[in-house]
Amino acid sequence: MNSPDAPAQPERRDFLTKAAAVGVGAAVTTVPLLAGLATVLDPLRRKAAAGGSVFVTTLSALPEDGVPRRFQIIADREDAWNKFPNVPVGAVYLRRMEGNKLQALNVTCPHAGCPIEFKPGMKAFLCPCHDSKFALDGSRSDPNSPSLRAMDALEAEVRAGGEVWVKFQNFEPGKAQKIPLA
Ligand code: FES
Repeated sequence: MNSPDAPAQPERRDFLTKAAAVGVGAAVTTVPLLAGLATVLDPLRRKAAAGGSVFVTTLSALPEDGVPRRFQIIADREDAWNKFPNVPVGAVYLRRMEGNKLQALNVTCPHAGCPIEFKPGMKAFLCPCHDSKFALDGSRSDPNSPSLRAMDALEAEVRAGGEVWVKFQNFEPGKAQKIPLA
């Protein structure tokens, strides 16, 4: 039997060296693998946050005049490594018509993603990047508009106490159809 201070046998030393090498090798291989996996899974993780309903404002802040008003969407944003609570993730135009009818339009231009502006004098939306024009209801108002589709309409609902909630979602730019982004 070896005493605690006895020198290690050559075979035992050899075994420990090999075991250490295997351990280091496994760590070197596993860490990048996990990082890569997290990157691959990132869109899936963001998808969980996309398309959720977000509190935007109250009915009392929205006059019943059909004029679009711009609101930032504040929500949690998450990537593979970090979670950012309560940060701006986009913006919407909200219109309130008679009878509490609501319309929500994503501010992002479906052509190439610039922020669309509301022009009160024209009672229309205009994208300053390439001149896409949209009517008050978000439809394309000029057949020559480079945007292939209308502004992206979003679901809006009034919840208890007159809270306005919007199901916020971004869509692929440059397409004629609305294809949700993760
Ligand atoms: S990004 Fe709006 S017209 Fe091109």
